[in-house]
Amino acid sequence: MYDFKIEAADKATLYSDLASALEGLVAGETDGIANMANASALIWESLPDVNWVGFYRNVGGELVLGPFQGRPACIRIPFDQGVCGAAAATRQVQRVKDVHAFPGHIACDSASNSEIVVPLVRDGELLGVLDIDSPKHGRFDAGDEAGIVRLAEIITRAI
Ligand code: SME
Repeated sequence: MYDFKIEAADKATLYSDLASALEGLVAGETDGIANMANASALIWESLPDVNWVGFYRNVGGELVLGPFQGRPACIRIPFDQGVCGAAAATRQVQRVKDVHAFPGHIACDSASNSEIVVPLVRDGELLGVLDIDSPKHGRFDAGDEAGIVRLAEIITRAI
């Protein structure tokens, strides 16, 4: 078992440490499921105030649940539904301060109040999305987005 203790004083350092740990964790491993599983566990263990961290994979134009940490979640999400679907359809990061105000939001866990979803695109192909939920309203700011996009880039190369 790996024991990463990532407790940085500031956000930039936190994400920098997290990126280094993630690089180490996926180095030399080509199995995408294993790498998504370890990535979700690392992020879950390291980010405060999150209640769901995980992946949806693009399986034939539909998002299908992948490795995650948190409560059991919706298994299939069409591209025209929810925050995850919007990230997949637009290939743009969706950073939502209040998920209850997002049209079509899918409430897998009623504890979630804010959410960030980052599309995973490699060589023009959408592989899936990384989804992180929080019970806090407005949990994710621009600094979190920059850090999580960096983590998503590392994962995209490893799945
Ligand atoms: N809330 C998401 C669904 C996935 S769960 O949060 C794990 C959405 O609206 O896309």
